[in-house]
Amino acid sequence: MKTPITLKINGEEHSFEVEPRTLLVHLIREQANMTGTHIGCDTSSCGACTLLIDGKSAKSCTILAVQANGKEITTVEGLATAEGVHPIQEGFKENHGLHCGFCTPGMMLRAIELLEKNPDPTEEEIRWGISGNLCRCTGYNNIVKAIQYAGAKMRGDELPSTEPVFVE
Ligand code: FES
Ligand code: FES
Repeated sequence: MKTPITLKINGEEHSFEVEPRTLLVHLIREQANMTGTHIGCDTSSCGACTLLIDGKSAKSCTILAVQANGKEITTVEGLATAEGVHPIQEGFKENHGLHCGFCTPGMMLRAIELLEKNPDPTEEEIRWGISGNLCRCTGYNNIVKAIQYAGAKMRGDELPSTEPVFVE
């Protein structure tokens, strides 16, 4: 039997009928048609499905859609506004923080919560903060730089250099 639920997704109310076993990630991708939320594993380990639920990052493959009833969800599609892209999107663009881009939506949403809780994190705090999100391409250095850049932008500080750093 299907259950009616209502979610606010990226600021808009949406109503759905879902099976009790439907995962939130499947609802977002297949019923809300927001395919920027990715599925990279079936073991809750990659973080590609990360989104924000009431401002907290969560792996949406570990949550039933019915558990999200009444909650406010932010997906990558909700990050840019009429004013432009979100600082985290700008950070990833300016610092080449993505290669294939598969991990990027989840990585950015996780980083937003990290920066909201800790606006000026150290490199180590960033690396710990994103340790639940796996990237198979970048080696993480540019992701860390992207998050540092976004943090500076969100704080209103001088933006760090986007020049590549070469390891000798
Ligand atoms: S799809 Fe890998 S953690 Fe959710
Ligand atoms: S950019 Fe390819 S998995 Fe992260």
